[in-house]
Amino acid sequence: MSRASRLGRVQPVTDPAVPHPVKLAPSLLACDFARLGEELQAIQGADWAHVDVMDGAFVPNISFGLPILAAARRASSLFMDVHLMIQHPERYLRDFAEAGADGLTVHVESTPHLHRAVQQIRELGKKAGVTLNPGTPLEALRPVLADVDLVLIMSVNPGFGGQKFIPSSLERIRTLRRWLDDLGSAAEIQVDGGVTPQNARAVVHAGATCLVAGSAVYGPDGAQAGLERLREALK
Ligand code: DX5
Ligand code: ZN
Repeated sequence: MSRASRLGRVQPVTDPAVPHPVKLAPSLLACDFARLGEELQAIQGADWAHVDVMDGAFVPNISFGLPILAAARRASSLFMDVHLMIQHPERYLRDFAEAGADGLTVHVESTPHLHRAVQQIRELGKKAGVTLNPGTPLEALRPVLADVDLVLIMSVNPGFGGQKFIPSSLERIRTLRRWLDDLGSAAEIQVDGGVTPQNARAVVHAGATCLVAGSAVYGPDGAQAGLERLREALK
């Protein structure tokens, strides 16, 4: 016999309200590149556009680079949130800034000079982000935590869209939330990979303030509908 019928009534489901405002950052990786301008138009209601740059060396996939960012910049006034999955990103920070990036996020595994890369992004007048693969201990980003505007928790292994959210990412988000609160830092906690309307609330309750979503936004019924579903899930 179920608990509800034993008690003779249905227990109310408690679903606490979303604790803070959340930015949505659709990933252009999942859009139709032949219609880049329209695909950006469709996410006009989003907060940021997430731009995944892959070099075929740091990750086993090549996506796109500077000309596509420049084209996106011309087509949209959205904040261009550039996620660099490339080796030695410091070689290209100025180029990406000049091509239209508003924020630049680098991987701790991609350079022995993480702190310098963060400094360079700041000197370029852009928001500085750091991130790490799911297999990298969170401690790796602690030395730069006070110097960044954004920390991205990868909830899939970087390189491909459409993968499943790794559940242990939730604990990493909670830990990071504590560390940033202890520092008094207002840095964004961004989460990227496998984010859907089904798990978005849990991710936000763990401490995320910015959700990246590729396949959940750019689905068969269009990005506007996909974005709306994510927003609804967070109401
Ligand atoms: C993966 C990229 C993600 C990707 C997310 O390496 O960093 O931004 O586009 O795609 P979904 O939301 O489909 O997992
Ligand atoms: Zn990304």
